[in-house]
Amino acid sequence: MTGPLLNAAIIGAGAISLRHFEGYQLAGANVVAFADPSEGTRSRRETEWNARGYLSFEEMLEREDIQALSICTPNAYHAPAALAALRRGIHVLCEKPLSLDLAACDEMIAAARESGAILQTNHHLRSNPAVQTAKRLIDEGRIGRVTFMRLRQAHDWGGAEEVRGAFGSLQASGGGTLLDNGCHMMDLARHFGGDVRSIFARMGTLKFDIEVEDTSVASLEFESGALGSVENAWTATGWEESFAVYGSEGALECSNRLGDPRLRFVSRSLGSGSWGQTDETWYNFAGLENSAIAHHRSVQAFVRSITEGAPIVCTGEDGRESVRLVLGGYESARSGMSVGV
Ligand SMILES: NC(=O)c1ccc[n+]([C@@H]2O[C@H](COP(=O)([O-])OP(=O)(O)OC[C@H]3O[C@@H](n4cnc5c(N)ncnc54)[C@H](O)[C@@H]3O)[C@@H](O)[C@H]2O)c1
Repeated sequence: MTGPLLNAAIIGAGAISLRHFEGYQLAGANVVAFADPSEGTRSRRETEWNARGYLSFEEMLEREDIQALSICTPNAYHAPAALAALRRGIHVLCEKPLSLDLAACDEMIAAARESGAILQTNHHLRSNPAVQTAKRLIDEGRIGRVTFMRLRQAHDWGGAEEVRGAFGSLQASGGGTLLDNGCHMMDLARHFGGDVRSIFARMGTLKFDIEVEDTSVASLEFESGALGSVENAWTATGWEESFAVYGSEGALECSNRLGDPRLRFVSRSLGSGSWGQTDETWYNFAGLENSAIAHHRSVQAFVRSITEGAPIVCTGEDGRESVRLVLGGYESARSGMSVGV
């Protein structure tokens, strides 16, 4: 096929939108337009992207012939933008968290169902090759029955004195690190361990002068009986991302804290039965040192779902579930009790 496969647009042209733009380029799609209320951002992106910039996304949707749309606004504006597009039959890749409450998530899912448009949530870690390999090994039963997992995504805003942009605002973001980083971890928890039964969370605003929490620890109980621990913080050092999944026959570990992220798989079933003599396999992934790769792959998967009917890597329903678990975490922190979800 020659020429672009489809025309795409982006609503919200800030930091993460660049990964979407690059992902569309890699997928052979053409980003023809974008919307952003900031005049400075519009003029910069118009030059960088050679695309038409709009002040209002409504006007952009009215005027442009687009099939695919990424929503990269602050969290509070995901739902209105997604609904406007989905109701026109435009396929939507929505940044996480899908929305701030379950009613809005449900409306988005219903709008997609009614128009037949695809709704993908950008939990991009599902497109990370280490996560994909870990998921395959778990599904193949290579670590046996999952017993425990430890999930962590934490950073410090690049050492900045202040939290960036709208992220510290309760109205625009809906929550702090538990929502922002934790929704990815909740999605990963479900992806690796299945449904969650209850959650207990503690959180605090310990470093920054903001309206939302900057540090959060959550404990999960899965329907299977397995347990999980989820750590999220804006009070960390640098960028920390890791997961460890333990099972009755082995374990999987991946962290970016000790050099380039690699996946370590230890298996008792192949060894002598002693944990001191486990078989160990390391998986290295080309390009994984660049954290943009999973974002690009997520956008490429979205385009493949549109053009080839490939399964949606993370659906609207998946996005809703991660929001539901995060909301359970907030309820737990407020009440000081474990919350059934
Ligand atoms: N998948 C990930 O790992 C990941 C990483 C970073 C950000 N995100 C998500 O992406 C979204 C944006 O984050 P960011 O870091 O790019 O923020 P940002 O502040 O850099 O960019 C947001 C942009 O949206 C614009 N905007 C604000 N209100 C708007 C509206 N009503 N309509 C259109 N545009 C509007 C702003 O002017 C700004 O340019 C957030 O929902 C965030 O949670 C996801």
